[in-house]
Amino acid sequence: MKNILVTGGAGFIGSNFVKYMLSHTGCSIVNLDALTYAGNLENLREVEADSRYVFVRGDICDRDLVHNLFEKYDVDTVVNFAAESHVDRSITDPDIFVQTNIMGTQNLLFAARRYWSVRPEDKHCREYRPEVRFLQVSTDEVYGALGKTGMFTETTPLSPNSPYSASKAGADLFVRAYHETFGLPVNITRCSNNYGPYQFPEKLIPLMIHNCLEDKPLPIYGDGLQIRDWLYVEDHCSAIASVLEKGRLGEIYNIGGNNEKANIEIVRFILSRMGKNKSLITHVKDRPGHDRRYAIDNTKITAELGWSPSYTFEGGMAKTIDWYLANPQWMEHVTSGAYQDYYNRMYHG
Ligand code: NAD
Ligand code: TYD
Repeated sequence: MKNILVTGGAGFIGSNFVKYMLSHTGCSIVNLDALTYAGNLENLREVEADSRYVFVRGDICDRDLVHNLFEKYDVDTVVNFAAESHVDRSITDPDIFVQTNIMGTQNLLFAARRYWSVRPEDKHCREYRPEVRFLQVSTDEVYGALGKTGMFTETTPLSPNSPYSASKAGADLFVRAYHETFGLPVNITRCSNNYGPYQFPEKLIPLMIHNCLEDKPLPIYGDGLQIRDWLYVEDHCSAIASVLEKGRLGEIYNIGGNNEKANIEIVRFILSRMGKNKSLITHVKDRPGHDRRYAIDNTKITAELGWSPSYTFEGGMAKTIDWYLANPQWMEHVTSGAYQDYYNRMYHG
């Protein structure tokens, strides 16, 4: 039985992960989330009455709160999803990315080291309770961009190009340093682009679905030939569960589904599935520093841990689009109010 502190569990991947773990394992979960614009308790309705689940609203940068949670719930595992996660927002407002993604991760590492150490009074103690583990949920974007060929492996040098990916790379280096300096039992996972239910419509796939629903133009940055490697969110959750269960401590695991697609292909798929006209496609100004291609080599996690994705791209996309069509009230709630300002600023500003 694990007592997992999930941070950012009210966001897209975190909420899918909370539900995945409660239904596939006997763990208990404390979900610490600040409920920024991206956090939404509607994502967690089906588990809120579960006796193995607790929600706490708060900031991962809050030292006292985080320490109290470790003590109160005897946390033995941390899975850190909490982050500012959108590249476009990091271009307009990088400060909060440094604060949450780097400072917040350092605060969690600090608390984990203090609470898990077998001799907390000894500043040099490198011994921890045997069952503990800190898992940092990172991204393939820390590796930078690829040309037409090649794939990211776990040893590809870090070369982040956006303030978002730079802040995630900074956090990864802190996690690594806590392992090297203090012996903290850690893992880092670096996943490719996720899609699926409950993703906020600032990201490509839900934004295009939302605009299709409203017959609004579909804004494609530049030529739309940028390539991402897409993974259905539940497959990301099962990969993290495998790393928690059998990942070698101190190791990094890339996670990807071997689904390289150009953005324009994704948008055409959505148009066709939703029965909308291609004339909605609108090419707009490109994102500055736009990474051209990402591709994940997932050999390590598949060979070592026996994990593999369960969903094909077509199957995962069909499930995703059907979910958005079946849950119009969810989309309506998250796109009222502040979302309209965001959209106007980003796309008409
Ligand atoms: P998201 O933006 O949907 O959710 C982030 C969550 O973190 C929100 O619930 C938000 O309220 C919470 N949060 C933000 N700041 C916080 C703070 N200071 N304290 C506590 N909670 C805070 O993000 P997501 O897409 O679910 O991504 C989750 C993690 O996975 C991120 O670390 C991201 O870098 C990583 N990741 C995402 C993708 C992807 O395609 N979305 C791919 C690979 C890795
Ligand atoms: P996004 O979902 O923001 O993820 P990331 O930038 O982390 O990969 O974007 C995915 C791709 O889609 C990326 O190449 C940028 C592009 N994109 C558009 O063309 N138009 C849009 O409105 C958005 C949000 C993204």
